[in-house]
Amino acid sequence: MENTITVLSSQEEAAHQAALKIATIINTALMTRPLFRLVLSGGSTPKRLYETLSNGLHLPEISWDRVHFFWGDERAVGPDHPKSNYRMACETLLHPIRVSKHQIHRMRAEADDLKKAASEYEEEIFRHFGSREGGTPPSFDMILLGMGEDGHIASLFPKTDAVAESERWVMANYIPKLDSYRLTLTPVILNQAAWVIFLVTGANKADVLAKTLEGPRKPSQLPAQMISPVRGRLLWFLDRAAAGALKTQISSRPPYVNCPIEKGGIV
Ligand code: 6PG
Repeated sequence: MENTITVLSSQEEAAHQAALKIATIINTALMTRPLFRLVLSGGSTPKRLYETLSNGLHLPEISWDRVHFFWGDERAVGPDHPKSNYRMACETLLHPIRVSKHQIHRMRAEADDLKKAASEYEEEIFRHFGSREGGTPPSFDMILLGMGEDGHIASLFPKTDAVAESERWVMANYIPKLDSYRLTLTPVILNQAAWVIFLVTGANKADVLAKTLEGPRKPSQLPAQMISPVRGRLLWFLDRAAAGALKTQISSRPPYVNCPIEKGGIV
């Protein structure tokens, strides 16, 4: 199934187009299923996306009461810490749309024992989805991801253990450059998702994005290259600044949609 890159004129437009696509996917899924399981990304890029989703302007109405929220990663801080991905999501999305506590599945990355916290989060995912034959990972309906200037996604930082993990769904991943552990979903479960949507904006991401999408396959150094949904779809929403180093011919009309990404990972 084709995966696509959409390039928009600005960060604002990229957030809005991504929000529109997300709203459409959620509403379509909820026509045939009771719940939608959404994995949120952290960092700063998604803030505008979450604000757009929560204020709902120029978007179809979403039955948020049927959406369950998970996280792709969390820093080793408490839920009230300014750097917490959970806190950012609460401020920009979860509080404004008034979801109830049972819909929120927070990573407890403030725990002293992060390896235990990773196993507990895996258990929470397992309980939520119910048992799976042979322990195959469940399929989240949608996983949102960003990308750091070094190419990391979630807390899968280049050359860290979690990038090449082949069994665990959730890991406490040590990040040498930060001298810190973080909790992160691994490609094992990321690649089971029905939709994986990247939102990457800003000129500071242009070089690493071009290497990721168009360069040689080096997933240890470019973790996004590990993302190749088994049965799902992979969408990239970029602004023109982040797409600035791409050689791929992107159509000349806004939104600039083009260049399917070959199956089996990033071309
Ligand atoms: C985090 C995020 C991380 C993020 C990138 C990009 O915890 O930081 O999950 O993977 O997507 O670091 O962050 P910005 O959007 O702030 O550039």
